[in-house]
Amino acid sequence: MLSGKKVILTGMQPTGKLHLGSLLGATNNWRRMLDGYDCLFFLADQHAITMPHIPAELRKNTVDCVAQYIACGLDPERCKIFLQSQVIGHTELMWVLGCLTPIGQLERMTQFKDKSKKAGESVCSGLLFYPVLMAADILLYNADLVPIGEDQKQHLEITRDIAQKFNNTFSETFVLPEPYVRQTGARVMSLQNPVTKMSKSDKNQNSVVYITDTDDVIRKKFTSAVTDSGNKIEFDEEEKPGISNLLNIFAAMAEVAIEEAVEQFSSLASYVPFKQTVADTAIAKIAPIREKYNEIVRDKEYLLSVLHAGKEDAQRRANKTIAKVYRKTGFVME
Ligand code: TYM
Repeated sequence: MLSGKKVILTGMQPTGKLHLGSLLGATNNWRRMLDGYDCLFFLADQHAITMPHIPAELRKNTVDCVAQYIACGLDPERCKIFLQSQVIGHTELMWVLGCLTPIGQLERMTQFKDKSKKAGESVCSGLLFYPVLMAADILLYNADLVPIGEDQKQHLEITRDIAQKFNNTFSETFVLPEPYVRQTGARVMSLQNPVTKMSKSDKNQNSVVYITDTDDVIRKKFTSAVTDSGNKIEFDEEEKPGISNLLNIFAAMAEVAIEEAVEQFSSLASYVPFKQTVADTAIAKIAPIREKYNEIVRDKEYLLSVLHAGKEDAQRRANKTIAKVYRKTGFVME
């Protein structure tokens, strides 16, 4: 904890453009925390190579993602932005923590089970170790709070288990981090198949609204969003997943509770004006982000200077933790 403020740490994989899920489930909430916390935001480029990738694309996406962070309101004057691969300590701590983590627990993680089901024998061991690297990311900075979307909650649980295991084995060292998941926006679903998560890897790109989409494209994606039978605007994730997803998106963007959003639209006799209003709200939110992004994305020198400042600060903190962990583990330190 620096300057008496609690540490928050979080990040995302720089695997493409940010979408409405990353905006509402992640950066919007991070932005709200800038003044009250000691904020560390990083790009998990080492996690990104757990899937096949093209090196030049990863490099470009990583720098573009810094521009997207800043465009989403993560002011580098009020937080640190850095790359996982540029700070020595993430993979070092991962190794020590991995030696305390039972393999069975890693094999039972939902993400590993899903991805290994698809890839079979060829699934890489990096994917198995993914949660240990994520635990290292968090524990390296003794983060108090980790803002995440719903899908990352299991990773937070295992991080707490691993921290506890280290503390019990060697002595009290790590803070047990708390997840911070907001009620609205924590699980933004696909616009074309609202029972699956909105994700940049979706084959149907009409299901994903990117923060770089033009106003026309945003409107088209919302007006063609799959809705449910009937014509009443109700929040019922089982029976009306499409309308519930749009209500959730609207509530998160307008910063109102779901009940308030339902109330606002309950008198409408058709879905059409509702979808138009959600589209208008999304355009009003996304347009200034897109404009800011377009303005700064070409200034590579500036973006790299932000990363450089972030790396210096993060490395200082990481060195302290690694020294402590190595000493407690029994490594010779002289
Ligand atoms: P990633 O890159 O998949 O997603 C980044 C953040 O965005 C949230 N998110 C969503 N929220 C709501 N609805 C959606 N459709 C949606 N899609 C993504 C995610 O929950 C996440 O908060 N493993 C992490 C990156 C990571 C990390 C960490 C995070 C590595 N180390 C340490 C926190 C702390 C990931 O792949 O996030």
